Amino acid sequence: MTDIVNSVGQILITEEEIKARVTEIGERISRDYADKEPLIVAVLSGSFIFASDLVRALSIPVDISFIYASSYGDSSESSGQVDIKTGKGGLNAEGRDIIIVEDIVDTGRTLSAVKQFLFDKGANSVEICTFLDKPSRRIVPIEAKYMCFDIPNEFVVGYGLDYAYKYRQLPFVGILKPEIYEK
Ligand code: PRP
Repeated sequence: MTDIVNSVGQILITEEEIKARVTEIGERISRDYADKEPLIVAVLSGSFIFASDLVRALSIPVDISFIYASSYGDSSESSGQVDIKTGKGGLNAEGRDIIIVEDIVDTGRTLSAVKQFLFDKGANSVEICTFLDKPSRRIVPIEAKYMCFDIPNEFVVGYGLDYAYKYRQLPFVGILKPEIYEK
């Protein structure tokens, strides 16, 4: 069986760097939301690892909800529309101070749609906390209040990010060897 670590050509962000940065961001959020009891909304699937580490780095009470968001269209180009689904029972955003937790902001389409969705549901405030940001790819202007790492436009996997649904479990962020996705 192929060792998934061997598919990675270069480690971009180490496990230690991730731990230190997530702790730092958790402390910042805990200070900023000290008297607010925010609602954390994690956008599945990519954010599941970051969200679980981030909430354990918070020292304030929070509620945690999950939503699914996916772009759809033909396979070569996204239509730019984003399909958003909540779990059973929906999501009560009314009057809440929400922090959206994402693994990556790329074009910005997903977060822009999720943010609007939450305001439409009556959120009082909506901020974004993303693990990675690829600002060079932005199409829709959107800014994250909290961001762990700004990265170049490389094909990255690990810490929740996938290629063809795989590699999410890598504890670091790595650049995939081109032969993996070119074959
Ligand atoms: C990825 C990522 C973000 C989105 C960012 O999700 O998790 O949700 O793309 O891209 P954007 O800024 O261009 O909208 P993907 O659709 O790959 O699903 P996944 O989270 O299940 O991997």
